[in-house]
Amino acid sequence: MRLACIGTGFVGVVTAAVFAKLGNTVVGLDIDEGKIAKLKQGIVPFFEPGLSELLVETQKTGNLTFTTSYAEAISSAEVIFIMVGTPSAPDGQADLQYVFASVEALAPHLIDGAIVVIKSTVPPGTNDKVKELIGAKTKVSFEVASVPEFLKEGTAVEDTLHPDRIILGVELGHAKETLTKLHEPLTQNFIVMKPASAQMCKYASNNYLATRITFINQIADLCEQNDADVEEVIRGMGADRRIGSHYWYPGLGYGGSCFPKDVKEIAAYAQHVGESDSLFIKIDLLNSTRIPKLMAKYDQLVGGFAGKTVAILGLSFKKNTNDTREAPAEYVISWLRAHQALVKTADPQVPADTLDPYQAATGSHVVMLLVEWDEYLKLDLTKLASVMKTPKYFIDTRNQYDPAAVSAAGLKYQGVGR
Ligand code: UDX
Repeated sequence: MRLACIGTGFVGVVTAAVFAKLGNTVVGLDIDEGKIAKLKQGIVPFFEPGLSELLVETQKTGNLTFTTSYAEAISSAEVIFIMVGTPSAPDGQADLQYVFASVEALAPHLIDGAIVVIKSTVPPGTNDKVKELIGAKTKVSFEVASVPEFLKEGTAVEDTLHPDRIILGVELGHAKETLTKLHEPLTQNFIVMKPASAQMCKYASNNYLATRITFINQIADLCEQNDADVEEVIRGMGADRRIGSHYWYPGLGYGGSCFPKDVKEIAAYAQHVGESDSLFIKIDLLNSTRIPKLMAKYDQLVGGFAGKTVAILGLSFKKNTNDTREAPAEYVISWLRAHQALVKTADPQVPADTLDPYQAATGSHVVMLLVEWDEYLKLDLTKLASVMKTPKYFIDTRNQYDPAAVSAAGLKYQGVGR
């Protein structure tokens, strides 16, 4: 099939490369000339395991090309994916300006029967406006569908090649058949629904997961008031098949480019439609106040951060990505600096003072493990203790270490909820 992928951010590049790998002819489009020039050379502007190789391979076979020209990308495309950003507007609702600008730009070049698929996360009802904008600029027949994206950074290629399901938000027309055929090599699990349901499905999934994380963080905080260990609690709860033990680890709260934004957007949407006591307003508040709350607690624990040196291990928002959007490190570091601590940083992919955790720990009074990069999971704790200064606190915000082993090495352990 001939496809156009508009937007070469995270979702756009991965989707374009995967569909090209499946044998489709894909044109990736972005208005950013610098980005397109890099992609043409096979350079991915962010770190994502397996993506560079896929990009080089699919460009070599000729299945994937890139352009900044709408005329070139759209004038032969049977299916066009919109994968541009939908940041939060100042009132918290989704800012749809890039979606609307891209559909207005593509409309004059559409071929008869083309399907425009919205993959960006947008509020229910957006397709009506998209149809109106396109209809004003073309006479050809077209359809607008919604196929939300569920890939995770760090495992994006794998997630796209093996999705749990494909949600097809379609109206009456040929979009259902065409999009089923296009996605069939990836899964047989298609769930067909109205476009507005598909859009709600994306918000609901991300908000459910964000709520789940907030829930376990709340339980972790209660565990700290007694002798319970949240990791044991998770094991016990997880054995209930209705609950499960996956996607359940506590920490400093959820970050990244999706959850904080999607919770804020659904909270703002709820308020906009008169649901002012929405759960999501509270979830957003609990997550955004979590880091200052925990930092105040750690401040007491270590006898005050002022004048101390703190080594931060991990600057990305999670492992296997160099994305720092809404990363805990950003908030932790500014909190520490505002409280007169000296900060040293290490990360394997994000520019930092060093790659080496021991170098960051040298002369530090406190080490904070913020991201569970593989490189930071098998630290030589005795070596770490030997280069640190008293009181030698090891704050494990991901509960990756055995508290007893850390203590045995001469460090003071603090996890989350244990
Ligand atoms: C998320 C969704 O999972 C994905 O389906 C959607 O398409 C985009 O948003 P992503 O942001 O890449 O993906 O990362 P994810 O692995 O889901 O983690 C999101 C945040 O939650 C991270 O800050 C992570 O550290 C945190 N998290 C995740 C937890 O604190 N505990 C968990 O158990 C899981």
